Amino acid sequence: MSINLKQLPFQRATGSVMVVDDDSDVRNLLTRWLSAAGWECSSAESVDTATNRLRTQAADIVITDINMPRLSGISLLKHIKEQVPDTYVLMLTGFGATRSAIDALMLGASAYLLKPVERDELLFYVNQTYERRQLILSQREYLKTLEARVREQTLAIKEAHEETIHRLVTAAGFRDEETGAHIQRTGLCSELVALAAGWTSADAEMLRMAAPMHDIGKIGIPDNILQKRGQLTHDEYEIMKQHTTIGAQMLAGSSSKVLQTAEAIALSHHERWDGTGYPNQLSGDTIPEAARIVSIVDVYDAITHDRVYRSALPAKMALSIMREGRGTQFDPTYLALFFTALEDIQAIAYTYPDAVSRPCDRLAEAVETATTAIR
Ligand SMILES: [Fe+2]
Ligand SMILES: [Fe+2]
Repeated sequence: MSINLKQLPFQRATGSVMVVDDDSDVRNLLTRWLSAAGWECSSAESVDTATNRLRTQAADIVITDINMPRLSGISLLKHIKEQVPDTYVLMLTGFGATRSAIDALMLGASAYLLKPVERDELLFYVNQTYERRQLILSQREYLKTLEARVREQTLAIKEAHEETIHRLVTAAGFRDEETGAHIQRTGLCSELVALAAGWTSADAEMLRMAAPMHDIGKIGIPDNILQKRGQLTHDEYEIMKQHTTIGAQMLAGSSSKVLQTAEAIALSHHERWDGTGYPNQLSGDTIPEAARIVSIVDVYDAITHDRVYRSALPAKMALSIMREGRGTQFDPTYLALFFTALEDIQAIAYTYPDAVSRPCDRLAEAVETATTAIR
C-alpha cells in the first residue's frame, strides 16, 4: 500500500495493541514505534502464545503476520473473531500474498499492511481501527442504555395502567360488597389458571389486568338493589343482571387489548357452560375463554370469603360446590386446571386477605365520612 502519511498528525494513543510475528525484528520494530506513539504494547512470537495471552490480557487491537510456522495469522484471526470479537485485527503480509490478505478481510480483519511496513502507515491504520472500534462500542453501549430506558418506561406505563384499572375498580367496588382484595385475588388467580392452561405469560398477565373489571358494571345498579341484604325479588334480580351489559358498554370500543378482554369478561362472566347463564345464554366454547376462567375463580373466591349477607363456606364445602358445577356451570377443562392450581390459589388467598373491617363496616364508615363532609 503506497500511501504517503508522513504529515498526518496522530493523537496520543490510549489503547492497547498486541503484535504477533515470528520475526523478532519486525516485532521489536513495531512495538517500539507503537510504544513511542503512546500505545500500550505487548507481543507474541506465535499464534499459541498470542491466544494464551489473550485469555488473561485483553488487547484492543492485534496486529498479526499472516505467514508463521505451524498456525497462521488467519487461524489467530478466526480465534479472535469467535472468542474476543471486540479485539480488532490488522494483518501483516509479505509482497505477493495479497490473496490471503483479502481472505482475511472477508473473515473480519479490519485492514492489511504490506511488509515492509512504514511507521506512519502503521500508526495511521492502528489509529483508524481504534477509532472505528471505539465508535462501534460506544454505539452499542448507547443502544443498550436506550433499550434499558425503553424497558423501564414501558414498565412504568404498564404499572400506571394497572394502577389506574385497580383504582377505578376499587372506586366502583366501594358501593358493592366486593373488596379490593377480592379484585386483586381474582386477577392473580385467573392468571394462574391461564398459565396452567398453557397461555403465554403475556396473555396471562393481560388476563390478570382485565379480570378485576368483571363487575365494573355494578356502578350502574341502584344502591337499594346492590346493597340489599336479603334475597332480591325477580325484578330486582333482572336489574342486577344488567351489570354485565353495563360493564361491557363501559369498556367497549377500546383499542387496548386489556380493555377488549375486560369487555368480554364483563359481558360473559355469568354465562354458564350449559347455556343457562346470562345475559346471552351462551354455552360451551362460544363463551370467551377469559370469561370461562374468571367465572370459576370469581365464584370460588366469593364463596370462600365473607359477604355482608353470609359467611364464608368452609373450604371442603366450597370445593364440592365447585365440583358440582363441572360441565353445568363451569368449563370442565378449565375447572380441572383450577383444581391443579388450587394450592397456589389458596396461597394467594392467604397473601391477600380481606381487610379486617368487613364491607358493612366500610359502608358505615363511608356514610359517616359523607355526613361529616356535608356538615
Ligand atoms: Fe358479576
Ligand atoms: Fe367478583
